[in-house]
Amino acid sequence: MGGSNYCFSFAAGGMAEWSNAAVLKTVDTLRCPGVRIPLPPLGVPESAPFFYPSFLLPERFFLPLPVNKHGNMTPHQFNDIKGWFGDYIHRFHSDDPAFQRNIELKRNHSFKVWENAAELGRSVPLGNNDQLIMETAGLLHDIGRFEQFRRYGTFSDKKSVNHGALGVEVLREKDVLLELDQQEREEVYTAVGNHNRKQVPDGLGRREELFTRILRDADKLDIWRVVTGYYCDHGETNNTLQLDLPDEPRISRQNIDDLLNGRMADLGNLHTLNDFKLLQIGWVYDINLERSYQLLRERGYLDTIFASLPDTQEVRQVRDMVEGYMEGVLSG
Ligand SMILES: [Fe+2]
Repeated sequence: MGGSNYCFSFAAGGMAEWSNAAVLKTVDTLRCPGVRIPLPPLGVPESAPFFYPSFLLPERFFLPLPVNKHGNMTPHQFNDIKGWFGDYIHRFHSDDPAFQRNIELKRNHSFKVWENAAELGRSVPLGNNDQLIMETAGLLHDIGRFEQFRRYGTFSDKKSVNHGALGVEVLREKDVLLELDQQEREEVYTAVGNHNRKQVPDGLGRREELFTRILRDADKLDIWRVVTGYYCDHGETNNTLQLDLPDEPRISRQNIDDLLNGRMADLGNLHTLNDFKLLQIGWVYDINLERSYQLLRERGYLDTIFASLPDTQEVRQVRDMVEGYMEGVLSG
């Protein structure tokens, strides 16, 4: 692939070479949500076994998931939880527009992650009961964000508290999941408490781990939606969305090296907004489901983030690396 292209498409299965003029013309469309490059159809496995979430998951997921015989969550219970959640968010309402904008941001994010978790759960596919557990975890995964923002005025865990752990505290304290089977309640707590850790911890049961991994994918997909919308067209700076990082051209070499070596960038190594963008690009190495990669490609998020970075050789190298990784994953 030509290294001189300013932009490229992850979706261009054939690694299309674009002329510079065509590339420059496309940059603006890439920056805008809703404008997508036509995609070649994806090869969906014809007979994926019921318990086969993805070839990307660890091998132990190739075995049938243990069924929770006590699980009997109903759609009605899920709706009650959803209603409670709406009331809970309402308590954080503020007449301060800046504060309220951040509350709305997390409210919308929560509902979008629910949608993503539902779609990913169906792609596995999960059984009916597990699907409801998965959707519960998706909807409530960021419940700690509201209390975090009220107490500290920031979404930076580094400057405040671990919002995943705080979320579990809130869920326990408010007895939100009281109606659920105890094992399933714990599974939701595990997924919520681990959704924002750099890595999935060792030692989780297979059910807990699967819910956690699906939730992490669902969350990343929506964070990509939020940040690409912001990079595409933000009138005023939203410091909460850029973790108070300065929007300067420089990028830490360590982050470039991490991504070139197939690693995610480290949260502790963010000095500029561009570093944060690299961290978001590096999440591509921490996706678990094939369906998540398909959605990532269809929605063009990585294209948009790359288009918002400076056109340097280092960035182009990272882009080629990440593109190759995506092609490898999606071609099986
Ligand atoms: Fe979160």
